[in-house]
Amino acid sequence: MYRATVSLLLLLLSTTSHVAFSVTDGLLPNGDFEHGPKPGQMKGPVVTAKNAIPNWEISGYVEYIKSGQKQGDMLLVVPDGAFAVRLGNQASIKQKINVTKNSFYSITFNVARTCAQEEKLNVSVSPNSEPNDWGILPMQTMYSSKGWDSYAWGFQADASEVEITIHHPGVEEDPACGPLIDSVALKFLSNPKRTRGNLLKNGNFEEGPYMFPNTDWGVLIPPNIEDDHSPLPGWMIESLKAVKYVDFDHFSVPKGERAIELMAGKESALAQIVKTIPGKTYELTFNVGDANNSCEGSMAIEAYAGKDKIEVPYQSKGTGGSSVPDSSSMPCQHAQGLCS
Ligand SMILES: *[C@@H]1O[C@H](CO)[C@@H](O)[C@H](O)[C@H]1NC(C)=O
Ligand SMILES: *[C@@H]1O[C@H](CO)[C@@H](O)[C@H](O)[C@H]1NC(C)=O
Ligand SMILES: *[C@@H]1O[C@H](CO)[C@@H](O)[C@H](O)[C@H]1NC(C)=O
Repeated sequence: MYRATVSLLLLLLSTTSHVAFSVTDGLLPNGDFEHGPKPGQMKGPVVTAKNAIPNWEISGYVEYIKSGQKQGDMLLVVPDGAFAVRLGNQASIKQKINVTKNSFYSITFNVARTCAQEEKLNVSVSPNSEPNDWGILPMQTMYSSKGWDSYAWGFQADASEVEITIHHPGVEEDPACGPLIDSVALKFLSNPKRTRGNLLKNGNFEEGPYMFPNTDWGVLIPPNIEDDHSPLPGWMIESLKAVKYVDFDHFSVPKGERAIELMAGKESALAQIVKTIPGKTYELTFNVGDANNSCEGSMAIEAYAGKDKIEVPYQSKGTGGSSVPDSSSMPCQHAQGLCS
């Protein structure tokens, strides 16, 4: 058996089938922070008691933000409901949840930056059988024009009760200069199987992180995401920039309900490892399109299977076209029968 890495670069891909939502999918208890501290548990906007926000435990400098509140000249607007939290330097929020041990889950939450700085968030789950295993999600680029982005991160539950922590590792001069967080949701991830007809797992991207029905900016899957932290089962994000998970309700998706937008040019890539048999010929087929979000121009996607590579041009009008390019059926066979 030889291994070929199939890596698809640039733009939008998708195919068929539908995966039902599991019952646990949606906001965590008080995941939208609509229930807040009592007046005696705040000093100005700062939360002073660690259990003041119902269902959550906080540590460090956490502000409880009301939509419409001003910060300097900036009006803070909250995407879901009327409240959100802000994590200052080294602050964190955490919540315990009951899950199914050994299953995979994905966390999705909304983030806004309030100061023009490079910000990061550190997401972790405990207990965790692997030491020093957390996700640093970079937020130096804001992708949506609404001021908020959704981020996703995946994990495997090592116990039936786990604690999810979102921590702001920043050390800015102004302690209040941390990201705003709203709408923390969880989704059970099924483990899509390879089929006889398709050797790629989750080739249609139908299984993926929770998407908020009321937001129209998709969900960012952060860069450098591998195996058990992928909120997109089967796929690794092998790039320096995030990719965007988009839904049929708010974007043009060539087939099915979900697709991936490779929005950061050459810096976005998805990869999956597929076992192949020497001497056999394989065909890689995919749809290329645009998400109907006004991104116009000449684009191209590059697909690699082992050492083979094709480049597929796509002329985007930004209005939601798509095609299955002739050249996207890529035979993958070498003289010695290796595709790696
Ligand atoms: C998880 O389930 C256990 C047993 O049913 C219960 O005692 C505990 O409070 C639950 N934890 C949470 C966070 O709901
Ligand atoms: C990330 O968060 C975990 C859990 O709170 C913590 O142990 C770890 O030190 C943090 N990592 C960084 C780089 O801040
Ligand atoms: C693109 O978006 C516009 C406006 O949102 C909509 O009317 C149109 O049907 C969409 N096109 C496709 C192909 O999805």
